[in-house]
Amino acid sequence: MNMRIGSIHVVVIMSLGLLSSCGEQGEGPIVPPPPAPAEYADKHMPADWWGDAQKLEEGRKLFVGETNPDVNCASCHGKDGKPVKAGATDFRNPERMKLYSDSVWFWRISEGVLNTKMKGWKSKLSEEDRWKLVLYERNFGLAGKTWNEEKKQWGDAGTK
Ligand code: HEC
Repeated sequence: MNMRIGSIHVVVIMSLGLLSSCGEQGEGPIVPPPPAPAEYADKHMPADWWGDAQKLEEGRKLFVGETNPDVNCASCHGKDGKPVKAGATDFRNPERMKLYSDSVWFWRISEGVLNTKMKGWKSKLSEEDRWKLVLYERNFGLAGKTWNEEKKQWGDAGTK
Protein backbone atom coordinates (compact mmCIF):
# COMPACT_ATOMS: atom_id res chain seq x y z
CA MET A 1 0.00 0.00 0.00
CA ASN A 2 2.73 2.40 0.99
CA MET A 3 4.72 1.43 -2.11
CA ARG A 4 1.74 2.27 -4.31
CA ILE A 5 1.33 5.76 -2.82
CA GLY A 6 5.06 6.25 -3.19
CA SER A 7 5.04 5.61 -6.91
CA ILE A 8 2.03 7.88 -7.47
CA HIS A 9 3.98 10.64 -5.76
CA VAL A 10 6.94 10.03 -8.05
CA VAL A 11 4.70 10.38 -11.12
CA VAL A 12 3.24 13.65 -9.80
CA ILE A 13 6.68 15.08 -9.03
CA MET A 14 7.98 14.08 -12.47
CA SER A 15 5.10 15.76 -14.29
CA LEU A 16 5.55 18.92 -12.23
CA GLY A 17 9.18 18.94 -13.33
CA LEU A 18 8.13 18.67 -16.97
CA LEU A 19 5.62 21.48 -16.58
CA SER A 20 8.07 23.85 -14.98
CA SER A 21 10.76 23.19 -17.60
CA CYS A 22 8.29 24.46 -20.24
CA GLY A 23 8.47 27.87 -18.65
CA GLU A 24 12.24 28.05 -18.83
CA GLN A 25 13.54 31.02 -20.73
CA GLY A 26 17.22 30.08 -20.78
CA GLU A 27 17.02 27.65 -23.68
CA GLY A 28 14.17 26.61 -25.91
CA PRO A 29 12.08 28.59 -28.34
CA ILE A 30 11.75 32.34 -27.98
CA VAL A 31 8.28 33.21 -26.77
CA PRO A 32 7.22 36.87 -26.69
CA PRO A 33 6.31 38.06 -23.19
CA PRO A 34 2.70 39.08 -22.54
CA PRO A 35 1.91 42.82 -22.84
CA ALA A 36 2.41 44.94 -19.73
CA PRO A 37 -0.78 45.36 -17.69
CA ALA A 38 -2.46 48.81 -17.74
CA GLU A 39 -0.77 49.81 -14.50
CA TYR A 40 2.65 49.50 -16.17
CA ALA A 41 1.93 50.14 -19.85
CA ASP A 42 2.62 53.88 -19.64
CA LYS A 43 5.77 53.65 -17.54
CA HIS A 44 8.99 54.30 -19.43
CA MET A 45 12.67 54.83 -18.84
CA PRO A 46 13.30 58.51 -18.02
CA ALA A 47 14.44 59.83 -21.43
CA ASP A 48 17.76 61.26 -20.24
CA TRP A 49 18.80 58.04 -18.48
CA TRP A 50 19.64 55.99 -21.58
CA GLY A 51 23.11 57.47 -21.94
CA ASP A 52 23.73 58.10 -18.24
CA ALA A 53 26.89 56.25 -17.19
CA GLN A 54 26.26 56.98 -13.51
CA LYS A 55 22.79 55.36 -13.52
CA LEU A 56 24.22 52.40 -15.46
CA GLU A 57 26.90 51.93 -12.82
CA GLU A 58 24.27 52.12 -10.06
CA GLY A 59 22.34 49.46 -11.99
CA ARG A 60 25.41 47.25 -12.10
CA LYS A 61 25.92 47.54 -8.35
CA LEU A 62 22.29 46.62 -7.72
CA PHE A 63 22.47 43.71 -10.16
CA VAL A 64 25.51 42.07 -8.55
CA GLY A 65 24.30 42.63 -4.97
CA GLU A 66 26.87 45.28 -4.08
CA THR A 67 24.27 47.87 -3.08
CA ASN A 68 22.12 45.45 -1.12
CA PRO A 69 23.09 41.81 -0.56
CA ASP A 70 19.36 40.93 -0.36
CA VAL A 71 19.00 41.99 -3.97
CA ASN A 72 21.36 39.91 -6.06
CA CYS A 73 20.09 39.38 -9.57
CA ALA A 74 23.44 37.94 -10.63
CA SER A 75 22.98 35.02 -8.24
CA CYS A 76 20.58 33.58 -10.84
CA HIS A 77 21.14 35.61 -14.00
CA GLY A 78 24.93 35.56 -13.75
CA LYS A 79 27.37 38.45 -13.37
CA ASP A 80 28.02 38.54 -17.09
CA GLY A 81 24.39 37.83 -17.99
CA LYS A 82 25.04 34.12 -18.52
CA PRO A 83 22.40 32.38 -16.34
CA VAL A 84 23.77 30.41 -13.41
CA LYS A 85 20.38 29.05 -12.25
CA ALA A 86 18.36 26.85 -14.57
CA GLY A 87 15.53 28.68 -16.26
CA ALA A 88 16.76 32.22 -15.56
CA THR A 89 16.28 34.49 -18.57
CA ASP A 90 19.43 34.98 -20.66
CA PHE A 91 19.70 38.74 -21.19
CA ARG A 92 22.53 38.30 -23.72
CA ASN A 93 20.15 37.09 -26.41
CA PRO A 94 19.03 40.13 -28.45
CA GLU A 95 16.43 38.08 -30.36
CA ARG A 96 14.66 37.40 -27.08
CA MET A 97 15.26 40.67 -25.30
CA LYS A 98 14.16 42.92 -28.16
CA LEU A 99 10.66 41.53 -27.58
CA TYR A 100 10.62 43.18 -24.14
CA SER A 101 9.58 46.83 -24.20
CA ASP A 102 10.99 48.96 -21.42
CA SER A 103 7.53 48.80 -19.76
CA VAL A 104 7.35 44.99 -19.89
CA TRP A 105 10.89 44.74 -18.55
CA PHE A 106 10.07 47.08 -15.65
CA TRP A 107 6.78 45.27 -14.98
CA ARG A 108 8.49 41.87 -14.75
CA ILE A 109 11.13 43.17 -12.34
CA SER A 110 8.41 44.80 -10.25
CA GLU A 111 5.93 41.91 -10.10
CA GLY A 112 8.00 38.85 -11.02
CA VAL A 113 6.83 35.89 -13.08
CA LEU A 114 4.16 33.69 -11.49
CA ASN A 115 5.16 30.10 -10.66
CA THR A 116 8.86 30.70 -11.35
CA LYS A 117 11.87 31.57 -9.22
CA MET A 118 11.61 35.13 -10.51
CA LYS A 119 9.88 36.99 -7.70
CA GLY A 120 8.63 40.56 -7.68
CA TRP A 121 11.08 43.14 -6.36
CA LYS A 122 8.88 46.17 -5.84
CA SER A 123 8.88 45.80 -2.05
CA LYS A 124 12.70 45.88 -1.98
CA LEU A 125 13.48 48.34 -4.76
CA SER A 126 12.29 51.87 -5.49
CA GLU A 127 10.98 52.62 -8.99
CA GLU A 128 14.25 54.42 -9.70
CA ASP A 129 16.28 51.35 -8.72
CA ARG A 130 14.11 49.13 -10.92
CA TRP A 131 14.74 51.43 -13.90
CA LYS A 132 18.48 51.34 -13.22
CA LEU A 133 18.25 47.55 -13.41
CA VAL A 134 16.44 47.70 -16.76
CA LEU A 135 19.19 50.02 -17.95
CA TYR A 136 21.91 47.63 -16.86
CA GLU A 137 20.26 44.39 -18.00
CA ARG A 138 19.49 45.76 -21.47
CA ASN A 139 23.23 46.26 -21.94
CA PHE A 140 23.89 42.51 -22.11
CA GLY A 141 22.05 42.02 -25.40
CA LEU A 142 20.89 45.43 -26.55
CA ALA A 143 23.87 47.62 -25.70
CA GLY A 144 23.48 51.16 -26.98
CA LYS A 145 19.83 50.60 -27.95
CA THR A 146 16.93 52.60 -26.59
CA TRP A 147 13.24 51.75 -26.58
CA ASN A 148 11.32 53.80 -29.13
CA GLU A 149 7.71 54.00 -27.93
CA GLU A 150 6.43 55.47 -31.23
CA LYS A 151 7.83 52.62 -33.29
CA LYS A 152 7.35 50.09 -30.50
CA GLN A 153 10.83 48.70 -30.97
CA TRP A 154 14.43 49.01 -29.84
CA GLY A 155 16.54 51.30 -31.97
CA ASP A 156 19.91 52.96 -32.00
CA ALA A 157 20.23 55.88 -29.62
CA GLY A 158 19.68 59.22 -31.28
CA THR A 159 17.74 57.84 -34.29
CA LYS A 160 14.03 58.50 -34.67
C1 HEC B 1 16.26 33.15 -7.54
C2 HEC B 1 16.70 33.37 -8.90
C3 HEC B 1 16.46 34.76 -9.51
C4 HEC B 1 16.84 35.98 -9.02
C5 HEC B 1 17.58 36.28 -7.71
C6 HEC B 1 16.42 36.94 -9.99
N1 HEC B 1 15.80 36.33 -11.04
FE1 HEC B 1 15.07 37.25 -12.71
N2 HEC B 1 14.42 35.44 -13.40
C7 HEC B 1 14.61 34.24 -12.79
C8 HEC B 1 13.97 33.20 -13.58
C9 HEC B 1 13.95 31.72 -13.26
C10 HEC B 1 13.38 33.84 -14.69
C11 HEC B 1 12.57 33.20 -15.81
C12 HEC B 1 11.11 33.30 -15.48
C13 HEC B 1 10.27 32.67 -16.59
O1 HEC B 1 10.30 31.46 -16.71
O2 HEC B 1 9.61 33.44 -17.30
C14 HEC B 1 13.70 35.26 -14.54
C15 HEC B 1 13.30 36.21 -15.44
C16 HEC B 1 13.63 37.56 -15.37
C17 HEC B 1 13.24 38.55 -16.34
C18 HEC B 1 12.41 38.28 -17.59
C19 HEC B 1 10.97 38.07 -17.22
C20 HEC B 1 10.18 37.47 -18.34
O3 HEC B 1 9.14 38.00 -18.65
O4 HEC B 1 10.63 36.48 -18.90
C21 HEC B 1 13.74 39.74 -15.90
C22 HEC B 1 13.58 41.08 -16.58
C23 HEC B 1 14.44 39.49 -14.67
N3 HEC B 1 14.37 38.15 -14.36
C24 HEC B 1 15.10 40.45 -13.93
C25 HEC B 1 15.66 40.22 -12.68
C26 HEC B 1 16.22 41.27 -11.83
C27 HEC B 1 16.34 42.72 -12.19
C28 HEC B 1 16.63 40.65 -10.68
C29 HEC B 1 17.25 41.28 -9.46
C30 HEC B 1 16.49 42.38 -8.85
C31 HEC B 1 16.33 39.24 -10.82
N4 HEC B 1 15.75 39.02 -12.04
C32 HEC B 1 16.62 38.30 -9.85
C33 HEC B 1 15.29 34.02 -11.62
C34 HEC B 1 15.80 35.00 -10.79
